[in-house]
Amino acid sequence: MSKKEYMDKLIGVVLMLIFSLVAWAQSVEEESCWATRSVVQKKETEITNLHFYFHDTVSGKNPSAVRVAQAAGTNKSPTLFGVVMIADDPLTEKPDPDSKLVGRAQGLYGSAGQQELALIMALNFGFVDGIYNGSSISLLGKNPALQPVREIAIVGGTGVFRLARGYAIAHTYWFNATTGDAIVQYNVTVVH
Ligand SMILES: *[C@@H]1O[C@H](CO)[C@@H](O)[C@H](O)[C@H]1NC(C)=O
Ligand SMILES: *[C@@H]1O[C@H](CO)[C@@H](O)[C@H](O)[C@H]1NC(C)=O
Ligand SMILES: *[C@@H]1O[C@H](CO)[C@@H](O)[C@H](O)[C@H]1NC(C)=O
Repeated sequence: MSKKEYMDKLIGVVLMLIFSLVAWAQSVEEESCWATRSVVQKKETEITNLHFYFHDTVSGKNPSAVRVAQAAGTNKSPTLFGVVMIADDPLTEKPDPDSKLVGRAQGLYGSAGQQELALIMALNFGFVDGIYNGSSISLLGKNPALQPVREIAIVGGTGVFRLARGYAIAHTYWFNATTGDAIVQYNVTVVH
């Protein structure tokens, strides 16, 4: 490298440093009163294991999950590709639908698989029992519902589950292939 090339490179690096310093100073100045930043002390993380049953009823006079949209080819697709459902499904302590209500799964799920049945789920699990009453976790991910065991991400939460992350293991407990109604066991591990 000649001396001139070396000097040019050096000047380039110095200019870049100056520019990034100016940009940084501007970004600090631009911070306004609607957002504040502070350094937090790490609190002890808690792990909660939840175990309940999810009742998805699509048939009958009082379905808990309803079809709200579909594609032109949905009914011809073996995986019902394109269907979108809105659910308000009870969550109970035991598989029996009349056992204690611990919460409700509200949100939507749809068929996002062309080759295999793959549901994409975006559900709020809101709890109503004990210290969890009023708290919720948000579930988002793919649920290949015909597999015996599936894993779906927990991406957030509210109340006692603020800043939650974790995973849900879903296992079909009972399924009626004629009606499509299902009872699914959920074991959820949440760090919060
Ligand atoms: C849960 O909280 C709601 C609202 O605060 C209250 O009405 C309800 O009785 C509570 N349920 C239980 C089981 O504690
Ligand atoms: C599935 O539902 C149909 C229609 O309600 C009913 O006749 C049948 O007995 C049910 N099967 C099971 C395994 O529950
Ligand atoms: C879910 O948890 C229950 C109770 O701890 C356990 O018996 C069951 O095997 C778990 N299910 C799965 C699919 O891990």
